[in-house]
Amino acid sequence: MQVYWDLHSTRFLVLAAAVLVISFIFTRIHRFLKHRQFARLHGCEPVTYCNYEPFLGLDRLYHFIRNRWDHNYLETSCKFQRHFNYTFGLKELLNNIILTTEPENIKTILSINFKHYGIGHRLEVFEPLLGRGIFDTDGDQWAISRALIRPNFTRDQVADLTSFEDLIQDFFALIPRDGQTMVDLQPLFFRYTMDSATEFLFGQSVGSLRMNESDLGFSQAFNYSLQSIMVRGSLGPFNRFYRDRKAEECNRICREFAQQFVEEAIHTVRSEKDVDSKDPERKRQKYIFSHELARRTSEKRRITDELMNVLLAGRDTTASMLSNLFFMLAKHPAVWAKLRKEVTSLEGRLPTYEELRGLKYLKCCMNESLRLHPVVPLNDREALQDTVLPVGGGKDHLSPVFIPKGTIVGYNVYAMHRRTDFYGPDAEEFRPERWEDGRLQPRWEYLPFNGGPRICVGQQYALTEVGYVTTRMAQEFETLESCDPGPWEESLTLTLCSRNGTKVCVRPA
Ligand code: HEM
Repeated sequence: MQVYWDLHSTRFLVLAAAVLVISFIFTRIHRFLKHRQFARLHGCEPVTYCNYEPFLGLDRLYHFIRNRWDHNYLETSCKFQRHFNYTFGLKELLNNIILTTEPENIKTILSINFKHYGIGHRLEVFEPLLGRGIFDTDGDQWAISRALIRPNFTRDQVADLTSFEDLIQDFFALIPRDGQTMVDLQPLFFRYTMDSATEFLFGQSVGSLRMNESDLGFSQAFNYSLQSIMVRGSLGPFNRFYRDRKAEECNRICREFAQQFVEEAIHTVRSEKDVDSKDPERKRQKYIFSHELARRTSEKRRITDELMNVLLAGRDTTASMLSNLFFMLAKHPAVWAKLRKEVTSLEGRLPTYEELRGLKYLKCCMNESLRLHPVVPLNDREALQDTVLPVGGGKDHLSPVFIPKGTIVGYNVYAMHRRTDFYGPDAEEFRPERWEDGRLQPRWEYLPFNGGPRICVGQQYALTEVGYVTTRMAQEFETLESCDPGPWEESLTLTLCSRNGTKVCVRPA
């Protein structure tokens, strides 16, 4: 009897295994035929793959690690993009990735076929710090976040420059003025934007510019949490095996910090309703982002998540832009002198929002900084369905490319901003004048703030902040001398900034 059962169960197992294998093979063949038909229908041709080792792509993985280590990842990526005519495939462990620097393709991903792509693959890495918000969700959830946040960036909010000026005084206080003592502006810019972002979001700055470096509790916790996001992000599918207890503690500190302001915002908005009902003409006082969110929803978790998302999206980006811009301004004394000349039109007054917008050369410098050093240099999307990119396939790289569901499509803004066919033979140089006569009007060839429905909501706020700090620096300091003997080198974390900081000596006007 026992023998009969053993035989029976072995047969059953063999049969089950055979069914599984056959159904696996059948699914694969079915998928292959479906893909082939779809690709033919759209006239797609395969892209060239850049790996020598075509199975796991270990050769590229080795170069990836080495280039990151040597801080020349972006420079090398430009060479690759040129070599493969701006669209190619890459095998990385189990992933098939398509990389592109072609504006037509980027427009298709971000705008024309927006719904075919998503960023849900970010959620796992970002959620412990950010929760679910505008920066790490797709579909309806993202649309609700965007609708909640977008109205908070109206012109009135963006044009209020008072808090920028209050912080400038703290910032100036940390800069030696003898023209000889070196100061690294980069960490100060990060403290400036942390203070301005928390003031804008929570209604109260963390005051990091006024603290000793050892006391930067929330800022330090936030920095550590971001580092951990970087590490987890670079581990790809293996990130779930990574455990960092310090990061968990830092995430908790950051979220609890934000939660206090959420409680306060909900309380204020509730009591406001009573006062408003008695005096409907009453004017609101200072603009506070968390209060605006609390007026639109009373869900505490939702408000906390959105605040954390906007803090992440807004702080490091603006600080990195300032660091990159000042690195180049310090290396180009003639540009600094021209900027200072333009700023003299203010006759020493603090600039208004309209006056800032009228400073044309300042705008050229900011455009040029974001072109040469876009602070979000690489980005990607995951295909949510089978879809097509318009160019990059075939021997001439001009045919459409089939993108199966689940493929990661990366786009390289850094390399695109350095294409000589768009920006001329001096594309690698910092030359703000190229923007001066208004002839250079790039569309999808210039994407520092992304494009399509997910374009940066904080663009005007960021440009106002960077413009304000730059104008006030130009009013305050006659000389801005670079103390870095070498050229700008990349430091690529969540954003792109100068590896050696922004070391300068300044002398007052
Ligand atoms: C120089 C400064 C900045 C640059 C270069 C920049 C750039 C970008 C880029 C490239 C994206 C798209 C990221 C993606 O693919 O998901 C983005 C999204 C976003 N940015 Fe900015 N940003 C800057 C400053 C700010 C500031 C100051 C804020 C807010 C205070 C902000 C809020 C956001 C938000 C909320 C998103 C997500 C939009 C969405 O997915 O719908 N950004 N930004």
